[in-house]
Amino acid sequence: MLIEAKDLFKRYPTGRVSVDALKGIDFFADEGEFVAVMGPSGSGKSTLLYILGCLELPTSGFYRFDGMDVLTASDNALSQIRADAIGFIFQTFNLVSTLTLYENVELPFYYSRKPEKAKPQRIAEAIERVGLKDRIRHRPSELSGGEMQRVAIARALAVRPKLILADEPTGNLDSKTGKEILGLFSEMHSEGATIVMVTHDIAVAHYANRTVSLKDGKIEPVSVEV
Ligand SMILES: Nc1ncnc2c1ncn2[C@@H]1O[C@H](COP(=O)(O)OP(=O)(O)OP(=O)(O)O)[C@@H](O)[C@H]1O
Ligand SMILES: [Mg+2]
Repeated sequence: MLIEAKDLFKRYPTGRVSVDALKGIDFFADEGEFVAVMGPSGSGKSTLLYILGCLELPTSGFYRFDGMDVLTASDNALSQIRADAIGFIFQTFNLVSTLTLYENVELPFYYSRKPEKAKPQRIAEAIERVGLKDRIRHRPSELSGGEMQRVAIARALAVRPKLILADEPTGNLDSKTGKEILGLFSEMHSEGATIVMVTHDIAVAHYANRTVSLKDGKIEPVSVEV
């Protein structure tokens, strides 16, 4: 089992009132699964994804990623997991505007401990994979939204992570471009990638083979098989 999370609570202390974003969530995923996380705005989807991606820690609960107990792991171990084992794709692409496409895809290698030798080849493969070989010197401002999201996907893929996390990856794209991006996710999945993708769109969730629904920080009892 790649992801084993039990009884996750997340409290954000904000001024006078604190927000309980997650109120006891169990989430499991095997290697090779493609899971969609659905639910209304504010239900805790992004919070869950950040915790699964070790970008945030839960306030309480248990989380084991790829056999490692995340809550007791050192900062060093967590940074390494984030850099080598997890690829994150955001709704707003999160590219560095001053860097070229190639340099954006290269970025994770500065944090990774994976062998330098493989680097240029893996970057080239990832860029080819998303169909942007003829754009490597472009900067984000010279690319379309769909192309920027492809760069973000190439950046997530280049280090060959065990887990790909995507937070509304098609949220800022028109439906045709969104379908192209989802086609890429389907391809990655059929090649064995483990994917957890947040969406509020049922049509997008259909690309996954399992859906988990959140409501008000909890899992809805019925998880829909699609
Ligand atoms: N950094 C933060 N500080 C304080 N409260 C937060 C923080 N991040 C999220 N929250 C609160 O936690 C709750 C869950 O937020 P979260 O972003 O996980 O929801 P979401 O399901 O991703 O929503 P959306 O569909 O709008 O992206 C919300 O009530 C939100 O206001
Ligand atoms: Mg969100």
